Amino acid sequence: YHVDWDPESATKGGFSSFMEKEIHDQPDAVRQTLLGRSDLNGNLTLDELRIDPEELKKVNKIIVLACGTAAYAGTVAKYAIENWCRIPTEVELAHEFRYRDPILDDNTLVVSISQSGETMDTLMAVRYAREQGAKTISICNTNGSTIPRESDAVLYTHAGPEIAVASTKAFLAQITAAYLLGLYLAQLRGNIFSGQIKDVLADLGKIPAKIQTILDGAGPLRELARSMANEQSILFLGRHVGYPVALEGALKLKEIAYIHAEGFAAGELKHGPIALIDEGKPVFVVVPSPRGRDSLHAKVVSNIQEVRARGARTLVIAEEGDEAVKAYAEHVFYVPETPTLLMPLLTTVPLQIFAAELAAAKGYDVDQPRNLAKSVTVE
Ligand code: G6P
Repeated sequence: YHVDWDPESATKGGFSSFMEKEIHDQPDAVRQTLLGRSDLNGNLTLDELRIDPEELKKVNKIIVLACGTAAYAGTVAKYAIENWCRIPTEVELAHEFRYRDPILDDNTLVVSISQSGETMDTLMAVRYAREQGAKTISICNTNGSTIPRESDAVLYTHAGPEIAVASTKAFLAQITAAYLLGLYLAQLRGNIFSGQIKDVLADLGKIPAKIQTILDGAGPLRELARSMANEQSILFLGRHVGYPVALEGALKLKEIAYIHAEGFAAGELKHGPIALIDEGKPVFVVVPSPRGRDSLHAKVVSNIQEVRARGARTLVIAEEGDEAVKAYAEHVFYVPETPTLLMPLLTTVPLQIFAAELAAAKGYDVDQPRNLAKSVTVE
């Protein structure tokens, strides 16, 4: 089948690793994924979906299936789809899904997310869902790969080839595509005004330049990462869409720096993980926008305070202008303003940079981490 590689995009382009290059490719990955998917009136036109809109209107349940990083994109998708479409949405690891006798019918929409389109666990879950009569849409980065071929419809991410084993630009492109799908379903079902869709698309359009701002200002973050090369364990906290970002930040560190790292839902802290906090324990906290919903921001700020009071080193990712976090933060890394739902496209970037810089400081091959494969084609 057709593989859309060219020699230019298959080289490191002056970066120390493919992963660094791919982190820097992210403004373009998001831009390309948004390109050509709305008309001048702000209506989304996902013609490529080739699935009967009348059928999609009947959907009363959505299940998002994926593995690894793609599954964290799936959690972001769940928040966005439920918010815009008001359709109950679950996200599940593809390899768990098949073995629990899931309840599906022809009004169920299964959305699979896979960079490679070849992950066996995800493929088997999609096959199973189709057998049960569900409709299947694949969000995929690889033209003509198996999962899109075996799905009813596909929404391609246009991140370009991703070479480094640890996923970066494909993740942001998957989240972008999931937003488009959520908006499209909401538009189809009349859950959202066209003005609102226009606003979200306009906010999405500003994301690439904001990612660039983060990339350009990453010097202090890189310095911190190098100073932490000997850490044994690093924790990550987040709430709402910041939760999958925390999980992804921890996964990146495990994958390429071989450091024990765990992501937690910040609200779960008091139910156990807070016992892990002792003097000097590094804790990243992903903070939602202070302009966003009611108490979300305040709750996360008090989580920073709680771990700080127990001696943690608090490393905070927050929105530009958020002064409230400063009192309890050892370091604050700001990202530009954007609506809370879209924040993962920004808050993920510092965590990717941190992991790549730390792994490089330890002398590891960040592109080819031990024991891992780019695409896992066995169950
Ligand atoms: C492998 C890779 C991960 C990736 C996962 C899912 O485990 O090492 O980086 O997130 O597969 O891959 P997919 O191609 O389905 O997105």
